[in-house]
Amino acid sequence: MLSMTTRRTQVGIVGAGPSGLLLSHLLARQGIDSIVVENRGRDYVEERVRAGVLEQGTIDTLAEAGLGERMMAEGLFHDGIEIRFDGQAHRIDFPSLTGGKRIMVYGQNEVVKDLIDARLEAGGAIVFDVDDTAIEGIDGESPTIRYGKDGAEHAIACDYIAGCDGFHGICRPSIPEAALTGYDRVYPFAWLGVLADSTPPSREVAYCHSERGFALLSLRSPTVSRLYIQVAPDEDIANWPDQRFWDELQRRTAVEDAAPIETGPILHKGITPMRSFVVEPMRHGRLFLAGDAAHIVPPTGAKGMNLAVADIRFLTEALAAFYRTGDTAGLDGYSARALRRVWKAQRFSWWMTTMLHLSPNDSPFDRRRQRAELDYVTGSEAAMRTLAENYVGLPFETGLAP
Ligand code: FAD
Ligand code: DHB
Repeated sequence: MLSMTTRRTQVGIVGAGPSGLLLSHLLARQGIDSIVVENRGRDYVEERVRAGVLEQGTIDTLAEAGLGERMMAEGLFHDGIEIRFDGQAHRIDFPSLTGGKRIMVYGQNEVVKDLIDARLEAGGAIVFDVDDTAIEGIDGESPTIRYGKDGAEHAIACDYIAGCDGFHGICRPSIPEAALTGYDRVYPFAWLGVLADSTPPSREVAYCHSERGFALLSLRSPTVSRLYIQVAPDEDIANWPDQRFWDELQRRTAVEDAAPIETGPILHKGITPMRSFVVEPMRHGRLFLAGDAAHIVPPTGAKGMNLAVADIRFLTEALAAFYRTGDTAGLDGYSARALRRVWKAQRFSWWMTTMLHLSPNDSPFDRRRQRAELDYVTGSEAAMRTLAENYVGLPFETGLAP
């Protein structure tokens, strides 16, 4: 066997998604050392097509941390969304309902690129292409991350470990099962998502409820569309040749006076299952979970990446306070503080999902109630304000422990 190298850092971070990279960046700004290990390659994480909507608080967090240059130049500020049903489009205006808040369309992979560039430029340590990641000693004083790379074994001795390795990572399963409670809901549908080289069909993000199922019109730039349709959870992507996708999208999103959707080359196509999941607590010993490692939401409402950013804000504050003063109160309060916000985002994502999709489990009563809900949310200013307040992102203070 080849020799084993051991390094030391203050915070060892598993996963170079938005959570792990942002934590490493924010900690460095507080003078706290970290190492990130990632089992995929740099190109893979930079090209992974995922979320696209940034809440006002996420935009502010990234900009305040010096990550705003390309985002502000290339990101698209949006002042509202559309909700379409019964052949009509209804607009929900954010600034007028939320005291001036907006959202930005900027791909998650662009945020990841900006973070990787910033970390590497500052001399930060990100180890890509690792294998067999494992964590040890989280109940003790000095936990360790182990991994293999290029045939050699490596260890990182840490004060704390941040499990930022997503839903399928190894950190959450490293916690004894009896110490965690999981809350789970699996939905009887999925999204078929497409990235296309075509003029976006709607100026603003449009959530479309139809008798044929849900559809979502979004974008990544003035010439690139991001489009989704509801499909069965076990759908085979081979059943969706490009023309069938365009035809179905057109039927589900049609409203009065709208021009037909412009088609174009499809650059990426994938199916995302829909699930709500939360694990409590988000900490065990010296391991802290953040982002998708601790919770996932169905994507309706675009909360996934934004929640990850909120977790990381809270975790950074707690770690910074500890390294500044030795006080562990912030670390001890992290899980409760993060979960208070997580559950509100869970509620919103579940509500948007059930309001907009067709479920095979729905009774005729459920369908009528669903139509009433759509009518109400697009007709009452109070209801629109509730949607808008959650969509642009609740204030971070909402996550504070009572
Ligand atoms: P991730 O982005 O999952 O990052 C975790 C990282 O850890 C990855 O880079 C992974 O490769 C790495 N990793 C995993 N295991 C290991 C290991 N053993 N060792 C080392 N590294 C490891 N949200 C929305 O708001 N809108 C959307 O449209 C949307 N679409 C999505 C589509 C898909 C297919 C998925 C999976 C998620 C989607 N989300 C969406 C959710 C959003 O992308 C996530 O909430 C966000 O990525 C969370 O960031 P994270 O850093 O916590 O986790
Ligand atoms: C996008 C994704 C979402 O989940 C959503 O609710 C809105 C937009 C997007 O990828 O652009």
